[in-house]
Parts: sequence; C-alpha cells; structure tokens
Amino acid sequence: MVGDMSDLNHWNAGLYDRSFSYIQDMAVELIELLEPRNGEKILDLGCGTGAMTNNIVQRGALVDGIDNDSAMINLARKRYPKIKFLCISGTDFSSNSQYDAVFSNAALHWMKQPAIVIDRMSNVLRPGGRFVGEMGGSGNVQILIKCLLQTLEEMGLSRDKINCPWYFPHPDEYAKLLEEGGFRVKYIQHFSRLTPLDDCPNGAADWYNMFAGKFLENIELENRDVVIKRATRLAKNSLFKDGRWFADYKRLRFKALRREF
Ligand code: BEZ
Repeated sequence: MVGDMSDLNHWNAGLYDRSFSYIQDMAVELIELLEPRNGEKILDLGCGTGAMTNNIVQRGALVDGIDNDSAMINLARKRYPKIKFLCISGTDFSSNSQYDAVFSNAALHWMKQPAIVIDRMSNVLRPGGRFVGEMGGSGNVQILIKCLLQTLEEMGLSRDKINCPWYFPHPDEYAKLLEEGGFRVKYIQHFSRLTPLDDCPNGAADWYNMFAGKFLENIELENRDVVIKRATRLAKNSLFKDGRWFADYKRLRFKALRREF
C-alpha cells in the first residue's frame, strides 16, 4: 500500500493511526461477518498497523497479518510482538499450511490485480474456508477524485500524468471474479458511507496527503501542495457540512466460501 506525500514508497504509519483510526473502528462490523472462532487459523490481508489482527486474536483465533508496506509492518510488530506479521503483497503470498479464513479491510482496493489476489487467497484457504472483505466499491471517493482532476485541468496539467492507484469494482464484477477464482459468493453488498474525518483538522487536505501520493506522483513536487489546496477548496462545497469534513466512501463488503471441489 502507498500513501503520504512525504514518502511515496511508504505509508506514514503514525499519521495513519492518529488521523484515520476510523478505518479500524468501522471494521468491527466486518469482524462480526467473519465470525472468528476459537482456535481458527486466520489471515489478515493488508493488515496495516495490526489493530484488527489483534482484535481477531482477542477473539481466540490464531492470526497472521500480511501487508506489503514495511513501515506498517514494523509498527505492527512493535505493537503486537506475539503476532506473526509478514511484509508481502497479496499477489505474492503463499503458505504451506491452510487457513480457515481470510479477512481483509480497506486494503483490496490498493491491489490492482484482483484475479491474482483472489487466486492466492483461494490457494491458502482450506476447502469451505471463508474470504471476508471490505473495500472501496464503484463510485468510491468520487468527489475527492473529481476535485483533484478538476484542479489539474484548471492548472493545465495533463490528466495523462495520473496513474490511479485504486481499484473500485462494481459488485457484479467482483462477484464474478470471486466465482471464477474458486469461491461461492454468500453475500455481497455495495453501500454509501459518508465518513466523518473528525481527526483530520485540515479535512480533505489531510486525506489527500495521506492517500493521494501515488495518484499525484507524476505531478512536480512543487505543484502538489497547490493542487491539494485547490482541490480541498473545491471539495469543501460538497464534503464540509455543519463544521465537519467527510469522505464520500462507497463500500463493497463480501463473504465468499472456497469451493469444496
Ligand atoms: C478507502 O478506504 O476507500 C480508501 C482509502 C484510501 C484511498 C482510497 C480509498
């Protein structure tokens, strides 16, 4: 995963925890969908700083966390030294032993080769094992993205320079990929979740600074702050209400079982 404008290759793990802890708070419902049981072996795909991994451990499961960002993994290891965390991407992961379930929150939209990720997860799950996830779905952060693109246009900066780092699928598309990848989809839901950015004093600017580094990586460094300031001003019209900033999230939540044969 990539984020934070100060370093395009690593997340700012501290800022992530300080200002974006809602990502973990909102995952509690997803853990209910996972229904972790005592002694089950579970993989947390895209575990970030490990808060949810630890939450599932507290429920009695044996959980490993993987994330392809070393800053996130280092912080996770420091915080939860008893849990096994590996720095590896979802497209590269394999395991000799099989998991009872794979859990993934707010990470799959950073993985732009979904069929490979699904195949990998199918390979590490036992037959009948659960894949439970939530990610950005189609239309996710549409306003935040539109304001960035409008700003680039106003500044005469070419859209061709933009390399969108996110994959926000329609539920039909993702369900098809899951079915083709060896899963039986039990549940898939696409829904809006206007999400308060209460710990982001600079509103959309903080969100852009944390997450849009890759999106703007081909824009000259000296222009990036100007782009973010202007895009934030544009976003304020739609995403600042009654003194609070919001992100226009659309979620895709699913539960699928690995086919038995
Ligand atoms: C999301 O959780 O939907 C998201 C977070 C960061 C960048 C893009 C999407």
